[in-house]
Amino acid sequence: MKSDLLLNIADYTRAAQARLAQDAFDYYEGGAQDEVTLRENTDGWTRLKLYYRVLAGVATRDLRTTVLGQPVSMPILVAPTAFHKLACPAGEIATARAAKTAGTLFILSSLSNTAMELVFAQAGTPRWFQLYVYKDREITRELVQRAEAAGAEAIVLTVDAPGLGTRERDARNSFRLPDGLAVENLAPLGKGNLPEVQGSGLAAYVRANFKSDLGFDDLDWLCRSTRLPVVVKGVCRGDDARRAAEHGAKAVVVSNHGGRQLDTAPATCDVLPHVVEAAGDLCEIYADGGIRRGSDVLKAVALGARAVLVGRPVLWGLCVGGEEGALQVLEILRRELDEAMLLCGCSKLGDIGGWLLRA
Ligand SMILES: Cc1cc2nc3c(=O)[nH]c(=O)nc-3n(C[C@H](O)[C@H](O)[C@H](O)COP(=O)(O)O)c2cc1C
Repeated sequence: MKSDLLLNIADYTRAAQARLAQDAFDYYEGGAQDEVTLRENTDGWTRLKLYYRVLAGVATRDLRTTVLGQPVSMPILVAPTAFHKLACPAGEIATARAAKTAGTLFILSSLSNTAMELVFAQAGTPRWFQLYVYKDREITRELVQRAEAAGAEAIVLTVDAPGLGTRERDARNSFRLPDGLAVENLAPLGKGNLPEVQGSGLAAYVRANFKSDLGFDDLDWLCRSTRLPVVVKGVCRGDDARRAAEHGAKAVVVSNHGGRQLDTAPATCDVLPHVVEAAGDLCEIYADGGIRRGSDVLKAVALGARAVLVGRPVLWGLCVGGEEGALQVLEILRRELDEAMLLCGCSKLGDIGGWLLRA
């Protein structure tokens, strides 16, 4: 057996672990507290079974869709994740270029190791900016204005992190950024460095800087402050999703931040149908958390998601092979989704429905 073949996301995870320093791997991989939600996100998709249809005469598959009206080649999008230079020297630029080649959406985190102007200049379209709300409103305003000027086409407001969930791996490792790496978008605003503290430097940074009393008034403020559509990321309930849409969100992401915030929050596959039911008539709905196979993507679409976001898999690709590695990971998921559609009897995304999850 050739053990160095990288056939799937699990292979990339192992290969990335072998290359990364322990503290960086733990930062990427870890979840909050007992990591219950982290595990359940992946287990949840596995638990769902596919009642495939036969003799459906599927010749070719069409994976294309749109997100907020912008075309993407498949319903698999790149989630915003922080600190890509822990994975490879080209960092976020490599990720953005991989997404561009794959023809899909790239979402840049506020907490990138490369300034948004440099990243968006190399990114394709669509490209969106993920926003954390700082206590200092002027900092937040400046981030939004710079994102608009740099070519972002939507603002993704992350609402599940008014504080940082305790990631015990990072606390034990006293996680911090290596010398030379910074929170580049915030460096000109004097917030570019993680504090030197015992325990997680990121947790201390969030405590010092993020607005902890985030409310619907902040969403209203954001919708008023930008000409770009606003996407609300991190909802776990139908009523919140509906309210977000009523307050101006054009889309919501069903997400628990990859199990990194509130531990024992439900798996996203369990939440998704409720959110679709409550808000599907008002806004687009995406989901993320634990997507590791193309069949997981198909299940999310069957539950009503327009598209999924993937976080860690892209990071593992970056660790293993930079831009090319990140692209390979996206192509593996594309191939697997295509195969799952063929074997389920679906020739386009619109053919995928709830009927696939029961006999
Ligand atoms: C290392 C890491 C960093 C992350 N950083 C951010 C971030 O800066 N902003 C954000 O909204 N979400 C962040 N997330 C959450 C992701 O956007 C996404 O919700 C999650 O990774 C999806 O789960 P998955 O990794 O199982 O695909 C991060 C996730 C990871 C793993």
